[in-house]
Amino acid sequence: MQTLAMTTVLSDASPIAFGCMGLGGQWDGLGYTAAELKQAHHCIEVALEEGINFFDHADIYCNGKSEQIFGEILATQPQLREQIYIQSKCGIRFADQEGPQRYDFSYQHIIDSVNGSLRRLGCGYLDILLLHRPDPLMEPEEVARAFEQLAAAGKVRHFGVSNMNHHQLQFLQRYLDQPLVVNQMELNLLHCDFVESMVTVNDHQGQSVHFSEGLIEYCAEQNVQLQAWSPLAKGVFGRPATEAKVAMAQEHIDQYARQFGCERETILLAWLMRLPIGIQPVIGTMNEQRIRACAKAVDVSLSREQWYQLFTDIRGHHIP
Ligand SMILES: NC(=O)c1ccc[n+]([C@@H]2O[C@H](COP(=O)([O-])OP(=O)(O)OC[C@H]3O[C@@H](n4cnc5c(N)ncnc54)[C@H](OP(=O)(O)O)[C@@H]3O)[C@@H](O)[C@H]2O)c1
Repeated sequence: MQTLAMTTVLSDASPIAFGCMGLGGQWDGLGYTAAELKQAHHCIEVALEEGINFFDHADIYCNGKSEQIFGEILATQPQLREQIYIQSKCGIRFADQEGPQRYDFSYQHIIDSVNGSLRRLGCGYLDILLLHRPDPLMEPEEVARAFEQLAAAGKVRHFGVSNMNHHQLQFLQRYLDQPLVVNQMELNLLHCDFVESMVTVNDHQGQSVHFSEGLIEYCAEQNVQLQAWSPLAKGVFGRPATEAKVAMAQEHIDQYARQFGCERETILLAWLMRLPIGIQPVIGTMNEQRIRACAKAVDVSLSREQWYQLFTDIRGHHIP
């Protein structure tokens, strides 16, 4: 396991984060049920038992219900707030009477969104606020003004982004007094163009790679924590394979899991966490066994050969 860049600002943040996108049930305007509350409570308890103290939210998750249900649980154990880190996101707006689904990094939307998250969570501050997806209409001075005000009011302690390439990060950073400390991207064994972009520089095999060249290095240089969303590839490796490359990887995953005495999920996370840059996976499973299996990844270090084997299985042929 590698050191997290994040520990320079949140010294004891857990190497694995719990993603709260599934807490609260459906993405509808209805309330959550007692069963959903019980399930959310159980997931949080299991995560805490496994040493996970970092929780990832967004204002939109389950239409606000993920934060709301988390807030209800926090209210029953207020001492918990100081023992955990809460990250949330803003900037995505669903279609409404005023327009289609859109991104919004305007000053007013950022401020309103954070106030809404704090109200639903029932707490006074967020440890980290992320801008969810790049808004082409972003005016960086407005973002800077919003961040400044949120920081001065003590409502947000640190700031970051999600789904941005390194040019976007660099551009925004120039306008901000606060360092951007996180970039959350989709990174997993199946969605692995971030590795492909490194091994195919100046090689025709890299022609169809879709990843921001230089992002990994930029984050390492600037101490930006890379977080991996969908680190389990949404369960693709846990279900019967529909693609030959997944079946091939599953064989090796199972072999390594037997060797380390762990589960498939452990190996999938260990593959991400083997990168020296120190990736923090944000797990979305709400299954107790899978949460516990993920947490074991901190104790599994894949060999260079095992790491490359899984990468080779997924790319379907050997590296250049
Ligand atoms: N920044 C962004 O744009 C962005 C986008 C998406 C997500 N996120 C964040 O990332 C977190 C994780 O995302 P994610 O939920 O897509 O990640 P994930 O951990 O890759 O996938 C979790 C999903 O896969 C299922 N799954 C995992 N292993 C399985 C198995 N062996 N068999 C069957 N199903 C399996 C889980 O079902 P079970 O619950 O039954 O295990 C759950 O529905 C979210 O909670 C959110 O915080 C961020």
